Amino acid sequence: MSNPSLLILPGDGIGPEVMAEVRRIIDWYGTARGMVFDVSEDLVGGCAYDKHGTPLHDDTMAKAQEVDAVLLGAVGGPKYDALDFSVKPERGLLRLRKEMDLFANLRPAQCFDALADFSSLKKDVVAGLDIMIVRELTSGIYFGEPRGIIEEGNERVGINTQRYTESEIDRVARSAFELAMKRNKKLCSMEKANVMESGILWREVVTEVGKDYPEVELSHMYADAGAMQLTRWPKQFDVIVTDNLFGDMLSDLAAMLTGSLGMLPSASLGAPMANGRPKALYEPVHGSAPDIAGQGKANPIACILSFAMALRYSFDQGAEADRLEKAVEAVLADGKRTADLLGEEGVQPVTTSEMGTAILEKLDASL
Ligand code: NAI
Ligand code: MG
Repeated sequence: MSNPSLLILPGDGIGPEVMAEVRRIIDWYGTARGMVFDVSEDLVGGCAYDKHGTPLHDDTMAKAQEVDAVLLGAVGGPKYDALDFSVKPERGLLRLRKEMDLFANLRPAQCFDALADFSSLKKDVVAGLDIMIVRELTSGIYFGEPRGIIEEGNERVGINTQRYTESEIDRVARSAFELAMKRNKKLCSMEKANVMESGILWREVVTEVGKDYPEVELSHMYADAGAMQLTRWPKQFDVIVTDNLFGDMLSDLAAMLTGSLGMLPSASLGAPMANGRPKALYEPVHGSAPDIAGQGKANPIACILSFAMALRYSFDQGAEADRLEKAVEAVLADGKRTADLLGEEGVQPVTTSEMGTAILEKLDASL
């Protein structure tokens, strides 16, 4: 069998800085664990525009379709703000998501004990939290027709349409059940079946898909109640699946239960490829952070945890993903902090590469 393949797109701003630390970790897995990846690297975003006049070259797009997983840093920056909409750095990212048809957006909310004080919630509410929100990403009210602002009588009317087909619900539900099988076999589906027909269909289809996953304990909740429960006692959840609109809000809410942007990974998954692996793009939630770019201040953990997600969800290496997450946890427990994680007085921040080195040392120690 050939080695698993990875396309790395560092992008702009702090993207290349945090990705450099991920490269060292990928190399570590090759030497220490015999897990060799076929890694190729390419341009996306502003740097691709600078070279090719487009934020995503067709060759890069084609490569992304072939590999087992894509790992992206971040795109954008003030230098590109004045560009035409059609060539803005973000368009590169949107094209990847669209052409790879990545319909399931995975946003974990995971609390490392050493950072529990960072949360706006009480420490015991968030300590040990580890949940995953699966948001439908390619349909729903952000895409439904009709849409627009029309004149009606003597006033304007803003219109958007929530529309979900059975197959759109079915495929994102399947992704969520597959994840639940790799985690704790517990899934909660959220919609508003009390007031929305699309929600009624959502609940029916998720229930039907659930028959294929009898081991998974499925529950349903109205999304507004879900928001309350997420802030009241988030540890009652494991995997949550929801539509594009509710998922947009609930995933941001859940992410902030645990604190800093520099810590948050994500994945976007599509349909299974011929080898059974889903099409997949892994990336930190944060942007290119131009305010700190080039200063060695960026926290590489969000990008490193994105690679851990790739290990778990693309490469079936759950134990190795655990190993990497535990290394991150151990470094934080030692009190190592990049500047974005400072709170306690008298702590000197470590640089991006010092954080990477500290994580590598913990990986070594785990052998
Ligand atoms: P941002 O996420 O880049 O930064 C927001 C704040 O968080 C900044 O103060 C930044 O220094 C800090 N921050 C972010 N990541 C950090 C990390 N890893 N370590 C330490 N501090 C970190 O969002 P912002 O400032 O709104 O956007 C900056 C640029 O990034 C814009 O051009 C925007 O379009 C782009 N962007 C790109 C995204 C992507 O590539 N997926 C997502 C969000 C924004
Ligand atoms: Mg949002």
